[in-house]
Amino acid sequence: MTVDNTLLQGEETFVSPNQIVLGVGAVEETGERASQYGETALLVASEQIYDVHGETVRSVLESAGLDVVVYDDVRPDPTVENIEAAHDTWERGDCDVIVTLGGGSSIDTGKGVGILAANDGDIRDFGVDRAGYEGVPNRTPPIVAVNTTAGTGSEATRSVVVSDESTSTKFLIVSRNVVPTVAVEDPELTVSLPQSHTAFTGIDALTHAVEAYTSVKSYALSDEYAERAIERISRSLPAAWANGGNIEARTEMLLGQLQAGQAFTNSSVALVHGMARPLGAQLHLPHGSRTACCCRTSSTSRLWRHRRSTRKSPVSSMRPTGRSPIAKPQMRRAMPFMTSAKT
Ligand SMILES: [Fe+2]
Repeated sequence: MTVDNTLLQGEETFVSPNQIVLGVGAVEETGERASQYGETALLVASEQIYDVHGETVRSVLESAGLDVVVYDDVRPDPTVENIEAAHDTWERGDCDVIVTLGGGSSIDTGKGVGILAANDGDIRDFGVDRAGYEGVPNRTPPIVAVNTTAGTGSEATRSVVVSDESTSTKFLIVSRNVVPTVAVEDPELTVSLPQSHTAFTGIDALTHAVEAYTSVKSYALSDEYAERAIERISRSLPAAWANGGNIEARTEMLLGQLQAGQAFTNSSVALVHGMARPLGAQLHLPHGSRTACCCRTSSTSRLWRHRRSTRKSPVSSMRPTGRSPIAKPQMRRAMPFMTSAKT
């Protein structure tokens, strides 16, 4: 019998949303799930996403008996001011549950609102530079994350990325107390994603999985999610990019990016995301395009060598060459999207 060396050195806690609603029509479940947690929902979205899907989600929430208060001013890289304004809306509405509609920006704004609702202090106080990891003392109110991209995986993670415009920097909050309660993954909500966003967000998700798999913090369970994510994304991203209406490919992408999120939040991202974060603060490029650019400068084989040199797990020792039998060819298939993606 072989046991992952990481587990022999201490315990691991795998975090994940309590409920995952996945498949065509999943958005219809949003009202029933959210109404378990109170009477008034704060619906958080960007104006652009609200224009496309907002009334649909509002309708299913109201049909389940919820009063709905809307904050629809989420920006692509949510700022401190964004989160504070959304929190003001939460307080004025005397809300009970946060429903986010969109990708990582909406979800991170919702997490930020939840942090301020359950804890005293400025949102900057919870960044890892001030509070360290697991620096959010109290659990956020329930968050129901309705995902429209594939994706950041933020609906499954304990991370929040916030832009601080006063310093032109981004800071990171990491705590299991911010993981959404419910993730709603309906592929029909991703059909309207343009090709460029499909490429950016898809490469971002693939990068999450590869970095999670090659991280020194990975272990047996996170590896399972990472491997499945790499398989799914590399297989379905070209099809979703070529034909946005391909529901099968969109479904596979949603599942793959979810698994990638579950993988990296229980392992880690690495150099690619470390390099991409300051680019976002300075240049305001979409997150996916930043990770795609940085991914090309940090070769997968180099990451593999790093993993081999830093830890010896039963998983990596099963690979005679030390190279991933999954990641290498599938990364090669996905690489053209990194160069064809345009803002
Ligand atoms: Fe990312």
